[in-house]
Amino acid sequence: MKKLTADDPESRSPDIVAENVAQLKALFPELVTEGPNGVSVNVDVLKQLVGDKTVTDADEKYGLNWHGKRRARQLALTPSTGTLRPGPEESVDWNTTQNLMIEGDNLEVLKLLQKSYAGKVKLIYIDQPYNTGKDFVYPDDYRDNIKNYLELTGQVDGGRKITSNTESSGRFHTNWLNMMYPRLRLARNLLKPDGAIFVSIADQEIQNLRIVMNELFGEENFVATVIWQKVFSPKNSARHFSEDHDYIVVYARSAEAWAPRLLPRTDEMEARYSNPDNDSRGPWTSGDLSARNYYGEGTYPVTCPSGRVIDGPPSGRYWVIAKGKFDELDRDGRIWWGADGNNMPRLKRFLSEVKAGRVPQTLWTYDEVGHTQEAKKELLARVEFPNSDVVFDTPKPTRLIRRILQLGTAPEGDDIVLDFFAGTGTTMDATFAQNAEDGGKRRCILVQLPEPLPGGEAAGLSTIADITKERLRRAGKKIREEIGGRSQETEVRRKELEGKKGKAKQAQGSLLAEAPVDPLLAPDSSLLTSDPSPDLGFRVFKLDSSNIRAWEPDRGNLDQSLLDAVEHLKTDRTEADILYELLLKLGLDLCVPIEKKEVRSEELEGSSHTVHAIGAGALMACLSERIPQADVERLGLAIVEWHTALAPAGDTTCVFRDSAFADDVAKTNLAAILEQHGIAKVRSI
Ligand SMILES: C[S@@+](CC[C@H](N)C(=O)[O-])C[C@H]1O[C@@H](n2cnc3c(N)ncnc32)[C@H](O)[C@@H]1O
Repeated sequence: MKKLTADDPESRSPDIVAENVAQLKALFPELVTEGPNGVSVNVDVLKQLVGDKTVTDADEKYGLNWHGKRRARQLALTPSTGTLRPGPEESVDWNTTQNLMIEGDNLEVLKLLQKSYAGKVKLIYIDQPYNTGKDFVYPDDYRDNIKNYLELTGQVDGGRKITSNTESSGRFHTNWLNMMYPRLRLARNLLKPDGAIFVSIADQEIQNLRIVMNELFGEENFVATVIWQKVFSPKNSARHFSEDHDYIVVYARSAEAWAPRLLPRTDEMEARYSNPDNDSRGPWTSGDLSARNYYGEGTYPVTCPSGRVIDGPPSGRYWVIAKGKFDELDRDGRIWWGADGNNMPRLKRFLSEVKAGRVPQTLWTYDEVGHTQEAKKELLARVEFPNSDVVFDTPKPTRLIRRILQLGTAPEGDDIVLDFFAGTGTTMDATFAQNAEDGGKRRCILVQLPEPLPGGEAAGLSTIADITKERLRRAGKKIREEIGGRSQETEVRRKELEGKKGKAKQAQGSLLAEAPVDPLLAPDSSLLTSDPSPDLGFRVFKLDSSNIRAWEPDRGNLDQSLLDAVEHLKTDRTEADILYELLLKLGLDLCVPIEKKEVRSEELEGSSHTVHAIGAGALMACLSERIPQADVERLGLAIVEWHTALAPAGDTTCVFRDSAFADDVAKTNLAAILEQHGIAKVRSI
């Protein structure tokens, strides 16, 4: 027996407004639209329908509009107040990998990546919620999106529950468009001039997606809409049609500059070529030399090698080349007259002269690129779900993503691939597999919301991002096992290199000492360039509020607020947190090498100051909590010495903790020493 609650529609009085709207909609569907507060009626349209002549067309213009569009545009322009905190303990191969798995709301993350990755990403693939009415569409909060994010993902007390975007909300398309618009706007900035974006979508929003993408990427940069046959058998329970496909919409940053790479030729294509006459140019196939199209010079007799004269092309057809060209090809052995030299002539086409691959087509069948059941199977082979309720049900097959990688990235070079609606991480799994197969060095950046996953806690899968990481760990392990010996060799080499680093001795007469090997040390570039096995690791970063304290005074205790404000940096954050925020602010790659050295303190017995050099000296930082006056000169000279040795190509920024200095004199002295030696950009935080 159903228990009625106060919220139940049956226990409420009738909603007269909703009934009125429903009646109007039944009569005039074009009247009802989405407004700021849900369903709304377009009064101008109503006036027109009842013959009111006061309606004008003054504000009619072509384009897609919805409530919140201006704010969505603004949202993309507002800087993030967040940062990305490193998580080496959850990462794989932190020291060597060039891949990133970022946990967070992708709007904030895309903003944070703008400086470091603008114009650097070769391929973006996204598979955002399709807006089916059952999926969750992230509600941005333009006032404080980081707070909104922490609440929605249950990272602060009083977290809000994640709910889906239902059609009955009256803001069905509005919510989806408001979510997509700023993200696509920011994503475009990250693309290389010859990059492209592939977006998975279904019927619910394809029309809106196309219009928004035309607006943001330019209609002239639309490349294709691919149809992916996602299922292998019809759904007989479907009320109308059984839906067999999804779409993948492709835009280039510039369609002039971008072209898809050719796909590998199929065995079937190769099988069409043979070499019955042992031609030294290799296998060939033959094509018709006549066609129906009228050609003025296309009717002449030809003589077979056997001596038979053929009066002309078959009736109603024309040779496709003139007599002169025909004779030239015949002299070059490019005309096939049949095994006994007595047949209608055909043109020989050599395998060595045809395109090295196949031009992609817009219909992708499941036998070529996989289907949804295959995707689920792949996921279940990687991640053990505690029960069937927890299983993530919208993964894409790796074969589908590998097809996209083949079209949009090159095996040679180190193209960056970005997927900011990562789900279970299929895009990185596919990148691992593709690199393992073709020896590529593609890098992959994923962004995934730590969307709570009720029921998964017991298995250590509290969020969807936990599934992503677990899948990638397993994927890397599996591929490593498959390529076996090669990766064992690399491991031995890695250990040797790390051993060498650890043993490095303090240079004679130098103020600097090598710091012990740290998990946050970045890749050894020699290892990366000479390593034959694919990069199967990833660095985890997590979105959080900035390490720099915002001025949020406690009105009831202003004295304490003022005292707290002396220290700009949050006290619960590590040096690594602060360093990576600096990297983002200065626009350095999150996988750039970080080295560190120690400078012994004069005053603080037995202790030392750690100096970091990031990106071969583009950034140097000492985040000691106290730099006594007595250490200023020593520290300054040590930094100068290291800076000289590194000889960075561009300007260096040198950063200290503002509260580390006893007074302004110490700070000024240190800045003066550095400036005298050519480090002009000295900053404190
Ligand atoms: C359709 S799924 C992607 C599936 C993925 N292609 C795969 O193969 O597993 C969309 C994902 O986007 C994530 N998502 C939704 N809103 C997000 C946001 N604002 N930031 C980051 N991720 C988000 C959802 O949690 C969901 O996992």
